[in-house]
Amino acid sequence: MSLKTTANVLGRGGFNVVFQRASSWWSGVPMGPPDAILGVTEAYKKDTNPKKINLGVGAYRDDEGKPYVLPSVRKAEEKLRSKNLDKEYAPISGPPEFCKNSILLALGEDSEHVKNGLNATVQGISGTGSLRIGAAFLNAFFPGPKVVYVPTPTWGNHIPLFKHSGLDVKYYKFYDAKTCGFDFNGCLDDISKIPEKSIILLHACAHNPTGVDPRPEQWQELSNLIKKRKLFPFFDMAYQGFASGDTSRDAQAVRLFLKEGHQIVLAQSYAKNMGLYGERAGAFSVITDDKEEAAKIMSQIKIIIRPMYSNPPINGARIVNEILSDPSLKKDWLGEVKGMADRIISVRQKLRQNLEKEGSTHNWQHVTDQIGMFCFTGMKPEQVERLTKEFSIYLTKDGRISMAGVTSRNVDYLAHAMHQVTK
Ligand SMILES: Cc1ncc(COP(=O)(O)O)c(C=O)c1O
Repeated sequence: MSLKTTANVLGRGGFNVVFQRASSWWSGVPMGPPDAILGVTEAYKKDTNPKKINLGVGAYRDDEGKPYVLPSVRKAEEKLRSKNLDKEYAPISGPPEFCKNSILLALGEDSEHVKNGLNATVQGISGTGSLRIGAAFLNAFFPGPKVVYVPTPTWGNHIPLFKHSGLDVKYYKFYDAKTCGFDFNGCLDDISKIPEKSIILLHACAHNPTGVDPRPEQWQELSNLIKKRKLFPFFDMAYQGFASGDTSRDAQAVRLFLKEGHQIVLAQSYAKNMGLYGERAGAFSVITDDKEEAAKIMSQIKIIIRPMYSNPPINGARIVNEILSDPSLKKDWLGEVKGMADRIISVRQKLRQNLEKEGSTHNWQHVTDQIGMFCFTGMKPEQVERLTKEFSIYLTKDGRISMAGVTSRNVDYLAHAMHQVTK
């Protein structure tokens, strides 16, 4: 490494000025790899094929392939505009009404936990920020080993997020590549070996990236085992309503665990179910058994948040709160969530039918069995590469398709291409 670097710069009057400066403070910073998902979008943008499809990004598209702003969100924005609100700071923990409405959405309007003040709920910066607060809280106060067990595979960001918060990350079996479904036995077997008092991450619904969710009776068994093993459940609920179209049904695992007496922590996101991706509205809750404990926990979460970002952004939380606190707007929103979920369910069916029509002899049942935004197709990296090279279809190497990018117009082309690379 040279100690001095020189730069030739055209100075005033057109003279070449030679600067000499000490080697940069940052000369040791290596180039990092591009984000796996955003890299797919970059490659897609450069492709000039009119038939190109982007199935990488996890954001909902309408049947025209366009980003969708929910009509209930537009209405909430109009209502907010007419209120001429100020731009003062939110409280560290976010607006209390937003927090109350969020936890009620997760646990149900009649939640005893909420009625009895057993929850400490704060606004988070969407799902990621909520998970991050949760991880920091657990790192600071969790009384067991600072290890979180995550399913294999899991959302790619979980791993660096937990590590960044100081938690160690270990794994339990979840997905069965042979059936493209849930490896229930493998999962039970692995969980039964997790050391007591560890943290276990559970995707509440619409597991990302696999689209594979346990059935209600399997959740019951998981709850029993997790209780027996004295594990602490951390629920990530980034897709409430987006999986089945019904927000209560999608929250059933969370509600079951509480009914069964677990204490839990929960991260919520409004990115997908309200289409508020860039607004960054979400919530983090600790649900405990004791009101005083909840108040103490709340005080500590605020202490964690304060040096991180002081207080959360106000706009998204206001939109969410407007929708959740107005019964008519909430009803509209619930209909729109169902509309998004139904469109995804219907393109799943079309994709499977078209693959069968193409003459594919593979079993594509998992395309319709899986739920939520993603389909883990089972395609191998070489097949994905061919899809991209030969058909301009862009997706992550693990064969994950964002069903949100499939429309009634491109589903035939997609099925044809998938058949060509898998036959
Ligand atoms: C499983 C899971 N958790 C959390 C998130 C966080 O999303 P956001 O921070 O956009 O709310 C996502 C987004 O893709 C996700 O799939």
